[in-house]
Amino acid sequence: MNTNTKQDRVLIFDTTLRDGEQSPGATMTHAEKLEIANLLDEMGVDIIEAGFPIASEGDFAAVSEIARQSQNSVICGLARAQLGDIDRCWEAVKHAAKPRIHTFIGTSPLHRAIPNLTMDEMADRIHETVTHARNLCDNVQWSPMDATRTEEDYLCRTVEIAIKAGATTINIPDTVGYTAPRESAALIQMLLEKVPGADEIIFATHCHNDLGMATANSLAAVEAGARQIECTINGLGERAGNTALEEVVMAMKVRNDIMPYQTGVDSTKIMNISRRVATVSGFEVQFNKAIVGKNAFAHESGIHQDGMLKNAETFEIMRPEDVGLTETNIVMGKHSGRAALRSKLEDLGFELGDNQLKDVFVRFKELADRKKEIYEDDLIALMRTSTDPEEDRIRLKSMRVVCGTDGPQQADMVLIVDGAELSTTQTGDGPVDASFRCIKEMVSHSARLQLYQVHAVTEGTDAQATVSVRMEEDGRIVTGQSADTDTVVASVRAYIHALNRLLVRREKGGTDKREINYKDVG
Ligand code: KIV
Ligand code: ZN
Repeated sequence: MNTNTKQDRVLIFDTTLRDGEQSPGATMTHAEKLEIANLLDEMGVDIIEAGFPIASEGDFAAVSEIARQSQNSVICGLARAQLGDIDRCWEAVKHAAKPRIHTFIGTSPLHRAIPNLTMDEMADRIHETVTHARNLCDNVQWSPMDATRTEEDYLCRTVEIAIKAGATTINIPDTVGYTAPRESAALIQMLLEKVPGADEIIFATHCHNDLGMATANSLAAVEAGARQIECTINGLGERAGNTALEEVVMAMKVRNDIMPYQTGVDSTKIMNISRRVATVSGFEVQFNKAIVGKNAFAHESGIHQDGMLKNAETFEIMRPEDVGLTETNIVMGKHSGRAALRSKLEDLGFELGDNQLKDVFVRFKELADRKKEIYEDDLIALMRTSTDPEEDRIRLKSMRVVCGTDGPQQADMVLIVDGAELSTTQTGDGPVDASFRCIKEMVSHSARLQLYQVHAVTEGTDAQATVSVRMEEDGRIVTGQSADTDTVVASVRAYIHALNRLLVRREKGGTDKREINYKDVG
């Protein structure tokens, strides 16, 4: 009899720092990764996949330090089916009170063809690598990558080998987001029925959202007996992303009548971490995103507002406070002090050191001089601007643009680059183009602008604009963000923010997670 289906506790495995960070441009700094890991640990995530230690020195250092600082969560690192990868992973996670090694190999026909292994050779490789991992660590997870496109018999065979070699969790990835809910359930059920020893391990579900079915597929797998969901905050992840943590957690909470499963996640911490992940990854949350979108609890139409005033349950299936959303009011003005700013930012999930607070306070005062009413969203936007200007190699000193109906538009700019003051004047096709040309003139680079996006933070003509910029150079993708009541200034700062990140990535060199070949197991 399968004991899995009797349990009602579903483990939440967060992979924001590994699969999420793999999203092109979502690279986080070391400090940001530690901060996110800390928030995940505090919110009750069972397992944190902290990175891919072999991928780069940076990843190794982040996983090691997250392992050292972890309080409650299991800390997991990813490793390909290579002994060297697994050793490196263990070196990083072994510092955790509860370490886990996660090793994987692509088992589908398409993935088998890449390392050019026969089915038997791959089976041997799985036995060897899982055994090796288990000799190092008691807690081993194994994943047959592209499981949903692997022949059933071969999937059963490889899962059985991994269990016999000591894997304690078997993860079933829908790597390309191809499966549908009914299939997702049937696959877990089939494995539970057919694979000897399946009732002694935990099955995990790892879904990608290419067809928009990741949440449904994960929940269907749970109904069939999976007891671990792999997910990311805001559904961050390559292409259309991974299963969103907030969606599966809230679905099981709100519809506990039909999905009687519990998680250890404190849902009131969802909003804070969602905002932090959006800020540090540079991936804004779409307005109508379930649970954490700006509009998820907004009721615009007259009928809805009337109903809400009479009884909130008419149009609300969960309360905003259940996900940590408090009333958005005018929160601060020009007379607000530093302590009030710190406390409001803490409410919003931003823990600042004294130097950071000093910098943010100066910018807050500048903003309050220009904008009478400062909303929570304004503060969040303020935090999106680079918060470590002293460490930035490129800084904006001043700028002036001439724009209007009669071109060409012109920008004058003064930058501080590595401590030296540089200035230039350029014309362009609009004020943003002229300003970007100034930067390019003073900081030579070959990065290509992939994305330039502007959003108004609040309403009104004095609203701040947040600008996101994504740039690519030699396969390295970085994002920069900034906010200002002047859209052109915000654009320039976002561009400079991205360039500063690019310089850091250039200096660090080494292999990036996206540059390492996931399929290289030979
Ligand atoms: O999607 C996937 O297959 C993965 C594996 C590495 C588990 O992320
Ligand atoms: Zn994945």
